[in-house]
Amino acid sequence: MARSALAITDFRTDPQRGAVLDFLEAWVSGDRAGAEQHVADHTNGQGTTLTARISGRIAGLITVRWTSNNPAFADRKIPLIHQLMVEPHFRRKGIGTALLDAAELSAARRGRRAIGITVGLFDEYGPAQRLYAQRGYLPDGRGACRGREPLREGQVVLIDHSLIIWLTKDITQLLPATPRPGMLPADPHG
Ligand SMILES: CC(C)(COP(=O)(O)OP(=O)(O)OC[C@H]1O[C@@H](n2cnc3c(N)ncnc32)[C@H](O)[C@@H]1OP(=O)(O)O)[C@@H](O)C(=O)NCCC(=O)NCCS
Repeated sequence: MARSALAITDFRTDPQRGAVLDFLEAWVSGDRAGAEQHVADHTNGQGTTLTARISGRIAGLITVRWTSNNPAFADRKIPLIHQLMVEPHFRRKGIGTALLDAAELSAARRGRRAIGITVGLFDEYGPAQRLYAQRGYLPDGRGACRGREPLREGQVVLIDHSLIIWLTKDITQLLPATPRPGMLPADPHG
């Protein structure tokens, strides 16, 4: 799909916020209250949701929480990608990639040096596991966790959505480097 057909819109400036809530209700939260809760911290700047629209229809969205509830991330000012969802009909057309591009760039523009995400362990998360690996997201080194707690050898667990791996990506290369004073190239006209 041509990138020109895709429009990325920030919820805060979206004239059709109702459509975003409809999408959240249908594909993320399952109810209206959950959809409204999802964007409740957006007005004070704590969260950002970007939507991808194709011909005006929402095909997917991504949400970033600027202060993660994981202290290991929050202490290092690593924002957390808290939701990434592409409607099944629109999958495998580069929309997930475009949403991640936009979220990573937004974080880099805010001066963040890394961005984090979690991914589940079972088959539903196979596409996301490949997508994140392809884009350079690295596991944090603690292995699989239930929420924030690492699993230990011998522990018996139910495989569900709470079993995750925490990943981060270095995004310092996304913005052109600012030359340090004294490091500027000689001005040929000077
Ligand atoms: C994960 C998800 C967001 C990917 O969105 P998408 O728009 O289909 O992704 P893209 O088209 O940009 O795919 C990029 C890469 O992801 C991987 N990928 C995507 N779908 C895949 C699939 N069905 N099988 C294997 N790899 C897949 C591939 O590496 C792909 O690159 P390629 O097409 O060059 O092989 C989408 O599948 C989704 O919404 N899944 C359900 C929700 C979810 O799991 N969210 C993430 C929670 S952690």
